Amino acid sequence: MKNPLFLASGILDESATSMLRVIKNGAGGVVTKSIGMNPRNGYGNPCVVELECGILNAMGLPNPGIKEYGNEIIELRSKTTVPIVGSVFASNENDFAELGIAMEGYGVDAIELNVSCPHVTNYGLEIGSDAGLVKKIVKAVKKKIKIPVFVKISPNVDIKIAIESEADGIVAINSARAMKIDIDAKMPILSNKVGGYSGPAIKPIGMRCVYEIATATNIPIIGVGGIMNGKDVIEYLMAGASAVQIGSGVHYRGIEIFKKLKEEMDEWMTKNGYESISELIGIALE
Ligand code: DHB
Repeated sequence: MKNPLFLASGILDESATSMLRVIKNGAGGVVTKSIGMNPRNGYGNPCVVELECGILNAMGLPNPGIKEYGNEIIELRSKTTVPIVGSVFASNENDFAELGIAMEGYGVDAIELNVSCPHVTNYGLEIGSDAGLVKKIVKAVKKKIKIPVFVKISPNVDIKIAIESEADGIVAINSARAMKIDIDAKMPILSNKVGGYSGPAIKPIGMRCVYEIATATNIPIIGVGGIMNGKDVIEYLMAGASAVQIGSGVHYRGIEIFKKLKEEMDEWMTKNGYESISELIGIALE
């Protein structure tokens, strides 16, 4: 990668053109929206609300299905050499394997298994809370494809589930289960009631997960959760991540965030005498 900054799944990644815009604005890699076997409409509105310290959303895994989405990846692949990670969700290991095979066929560089979406029945966290099932899914996918398989974990589960999954990489963390009630309407704001909380509020939680995973294993880690500036990236690298993903930060600082993060990282590294990213990875670990 030309830099360690991925676009996180779920942000500006429903189409080849929007992902290309993000790449042109400096992202070192992109992760697709999570794609399933069949088209899904997702939940009704309201599905997103900005809170004091982050963003709460429950989209309901809307996506056009793996067959249709292939067109977007094939187009994107023909226009960029930047790494593309295909995010997929399913409710059993056979479907996960089928999605992995399709993604590999479209030309992605790695697969991200979404076993951590915080609120969709039969998917995400419901699957990702079961250590045995996660291991079975990783094994089934790895058996069918050659490209690396990452598992994305929820802050609501034990990190051991990811460590013991035998994935090639761990993406930590997905958004945290959370809720907002409108006291005048006397009801939860989101149509789904419960959503996933992202942004600055969850950065210390992501940091703790990355640090604990890095302490326990040598599996490469991609840190995600609350990255707003260059110093946040450096903090995740020091905790043991070798790359990071940016999601909510795109909302707070605009699509230019990738270039800004690089400049801010360079400034800090120059001031502190570091020449390469690799010098920073894991230096806060005992
Ligand atoms: C959705 C999926 C996620 O994995 C997440 O963290 C938040 C929202 C969704 O599509 O609803």
